[in-house]
Amino acid sequence: MGRTYEIALLPGDGTGPEVIGEGVKVLKVAAEKYGLKLNFNHYDFGGERYKKTGETLPDSAIEEFKKQDAIYLGAIGHPDVKPGILELGILLKLRFALDQYINLRPVKLYEGVGCPLKDKGPEHIDFIVVRENTGGIYTGQGGVAKKGTPNEIASQLMVYSRFEVERCVRYAYQLTRKRNKKNMLTLVHKTNVLTNCGDLWVRVHKEIGDKEFPDIMQDYAHVDATTMWFIKNPEYFDVIVTENMFGDIITDLGAMIQGGMGIAAGGNINPEGVSMFEPIGGSAPKYTGKNVINPLAAICAGAMMLENIGEEKAARAVENAVQDALKSGKIKSLSAGKMGLGTKEVGDLVASLVK
Ligand code: IPM
Ligand code: MN
Repeated sequence: MGRTYEIALLPGDGTGPEVIGEGVKVLKVAAEKYGLKLNFNHYDFGGERYKKTGETLPDSAIEEFKKQDAIYLGAIGHPDVKPGILELGILLKLRFALDQYINLRPVKLYEGVGCPLKDKGPEHIDFIVVRENTGGIYTGQGGVAKKGTPNEIASQLMVYSRFEVERCVRYAYQLTRKRNKKNMLTLVHKTNVLTNCGDLWVRVHKEIGDKEFPDIMQDYAHVDATTMWFIKNPEYFDVIVTENMFGDIITDLGAMIQGGMGIAAGGNINPEGVSMFEPIGGSAPKYTGKNVINPLAAICAGAMMLENIGEEKAARAVENAVQDALKSGKIKSLSAGKMGLGTKEVGDLVASLVK
């Protein structure tokens, strides 16, 4: 037997378990073909467990995750649980505790996928967003005073250390070089208003670029203009690096131009530690248990996971199988309930195409 990997499986809430089930199905086929062994270790953290036990994610679980090779996550979010509890208690806790400081979100339109943008095809939409993943507004600094009075004050601060900005920007430059497409790294921020944080990002982007990556073109765009260009000329972009909240927002738009949440995958990466891979759409409670949700995003997240653990060939095989499934014309739409096939059937189709 070849290489063996321990994968923590967190199917989570809503349709999470269904899509992760299909991802595991496809990954097992790829593992078999490429002579690796994936041991999936199941954890039931999520809304249901929280409702029963009041527990979101204990510290002991974090310690167990640190010993895994990767984490494969379905979705977190439950209609009966107040917003924030599971997101902060599970998803953000994991990102922070495991120091997954990069959120990698490819925006790629595969052949055979309908694009909502007029006159745009796969040759126009192929870029990647490097979202800083543990800092900024998500750090949670700030507070509330005089709550419930007309003078109530609330703040949530955008906080960045140079260290955080540097490691994120350096990762993005390295990725741009490795990708070797346009060799252009676009910093996205809002320097015309956020003169403190924006300036820090601009200087770091320039200093690291000048010193360590003279072969990579330096580019800058304001975040509001970026949303416009995603629609108008997405072909402009190669790699984008941006702070946490801007990255959160623009990648939802990115997901739409690549065909929707049904296909959008992401990785929460700690380049020196344990990373976590997930479809970026939510738990979609209304589709739960109906075999109608699209598993392709979860399958693509699985391919990203294979790449991350060093199984490049198996990763490409899964990605190519997704591409072939889409080209086959058997999947009518990427939207839940409109695929013309069930969740399981899409999983079967992709699994059958892994070469
Ligand atoms: C995402 C999600 C999360 C985020 C939420 C659920 C905390 O929107 O992964 O993009 O804001 O990062
Ligand atoms: Mn988001």
